[in-house]
Amino acid sequence: MRALILGGGGQLASELSALLSSDATAFSHEALDICDGPALDRAYRELAPDVVFNCAAFHNVDECERQREQAWRINVEAVQDLARRGVPLVHVSTNYVFDGRRDEPYGEEDLPAPRSVYALTKLAGEYAALAYGTRTLVVRSAGLYGLSGSASKGGNFVQRMLARAREQGHLRMVADQRLQPTFTADLAAAVLEAVRAGGAGVVHLTAGGACSWYEFTQAIMELAGVDVQIEPVDTQVSAGGVDRPLNGVLARPRANALGLSELRPWREALEDYMRRAGLALGVGGAA
Ligand SMILES: NC(=O)c1ccc[n+]([C@@H]2O[C@H](COP(=O)([O-])OP(=O)(O)OC[C@H]3O[C@@H](n4cnc5c(N)ncnc54)[C@H](OP(=O)(O)O)[C@@H]3O)[C@@H](O)[C@H]2O)c1
Repeated sequence: MRALILGGGGQLASELSALLSSDATAFSHEALDICDGPALDRAYRELAPDVVFNCAAFHNVDECERQREQAWRINVEAVQDLARRGVPLVHVSTNYVFDGRRDEPYGEEDLPAPRSVYALTKLAGEYAALAYGTRTLVVRSAGLYGLSGSASKGGNFVQRMLARAREQGHLRMVADQRLQPTFTADLAAAVLEAVRAGGAGVVHLTAGGACSWYEFTQAIMELAGVDVQIEPVDTQVSAGGVDRPLNGVLARPRANALGLSELRPWREALEDYMRRAGLALGVGGAA
């Protein structure tokens, strides 16, 4: 496989690069802006990839509300341009395409109902990738954290919560939004398995099990040995604020039908991540 990875240096892209090693060339945002058509022309000409992984996105959910045109350019128009180039495209999307108002997990065939600019643009990006591409795989995932990347958010959720706990001595965390937080090392392996299995269309790939952000935060603090009070709170959406899905849990009937392996349960993956990142108790003096 000769792969081109866009959004290089990000959480998922870094893991894909590591797994594909010499079979992949990754371009960081600085090296290649996916909105720059002539730069993409050059990269496609020089590398002649068999497959393109688009890990680039504008995914700061609150910023997307403020910078709608930029969100549309990166998450939709650039994706349409990539799909049009005729090289199989692997495009990454999000559980936020669903409104999360029902109790059951959402399968790949369930009707999306995006309720933020970010989610709207990600859904439109999926449609552009599928409609304009000759062979597209759209992978929806959730709550990503990884060993590198997520610079635009000031680190991943685990790092941000640990920093906040140490600065503030207490945390407030929503207990009514549920999801499957997913380690990008596991997601990258699952994405490659799907590509090698010839997967196309939409598949859901997330960690096993499910938890609330409150439970996820509790697990992070326990594993790091940080003694902090965490107050569970309900989601409050201010006027004009971003509506995040309460039930962000994905089911995967299509991924199962394709015979794809399940990812590890979220807590097992979190423990592994924290150990590898030196954040777990007894590793690098996390407490
Ligand atoms: N993070 C999550 O919780 C989450 C959940 C579900 C789905 N997803 C999706 O998963 C994918 C990967 O997310 P991630 O967590 O790996 O993100 P990440 O660590 O932030 O990586 C994204 C990379 O894309 C780059 N980028 C942004 N705009 C670009 C552009 N115009 N051209 C080229 N590169 C650009 C970013 O660079 P800069 O930082 O320099 O801008 C960053 O390096 C995205 O499609 C995202 O929507 C993420």
